[in-house]
Amino acid sequence: MSCRVPIAAGNWKMNLRRDQALALAEGLARGLAPQGAVEVLLFPAHPLVEVVAAALRGRPLEVGGQDLHPEEWGAHTGDVSAWQLVDSGCTWVLVGHSERRSDHAEGDELVAAKVARAADAGLLPILCLGETLAERQQERTLEVLDRQLTAVADVAPTELVVAYEPVWAIGTGETASPEQAQAAHEFLRTRAGELWGATRADQLRLLYGGSVKPDNAPDLIRCEDIDGFLVGGASLDAEKFLAIIHACGASAA
Ligand code: PGA
Repeated sequence: MSCRVPIAAGNWKMNLRRDQALALAEGLARGLAPQGAVEVLLFPAHPLVEVVAAALRGRPLEVGGQDLHPEEWGAHTGDVSAWQLVDSGCTWVLVGHSERRSDHAEGDELVAAKVARAADAGLLPILCLGETLAERQQERTLEVLDRQLTAVADVAPTELVVAYEPVWAIGTGETASPEQAQAAHEFLRTRAGELWGATRADQLRLLYGGSVKPDNAPDLIRCEDIDGFLVGGASLDAEKFLAIIHACGASAA
């Protein structure tokens, strides 16, 4: 039996002004159990990363960026580099979130280059992947997950974390059932074993994302291959996110 430490990650997306972000971070830090068995990660919008990271210094929460550019430096207006995230206090970074894939037409090759750049700078990447509603209806879910995971096969660091986020469940209030989520996670772990070997697959932390709420988190986290959550909407509310963190902790106890 593997002992994968659960992760509860809050993706704040393009929400919150500075004072609100600081108040939320403080509320979460205060509400966390001192000896938490869960890794808690926050992903503020880039301009807020540095103040949130500074406010949380010495507290048991880590901060990450929501995206990064695949190149180290250069003429890329509006983008952010891996080193700038590191200097702002980030230890993690999201890569390939479906909103990046759809809003900015990010494909698998670009996502893989971003994973490589993150690893090069010592940032821990969370690779986000998942099928659209049309792909699920066409029974192409596993094919899509296979393609998106295999794309990073040669560049992923050992510490890669993968977040399965069915696009149809993100921000919609519709969640994958525990059976649907477990089937996708089991497939991803099997594929990870084929790509990187059994030990690494066993250690790979697989998060579920898509309308995770305090009331559906306990059933999802009980699934064998679900090792935590990437949470959008509910992570903007300290009480709700703390309840989700607590559900992850209960599963680890
Ligand atoms: P949601 O977002 O929890 O609001 O569905 C999840 C995500 O996009 O990471």
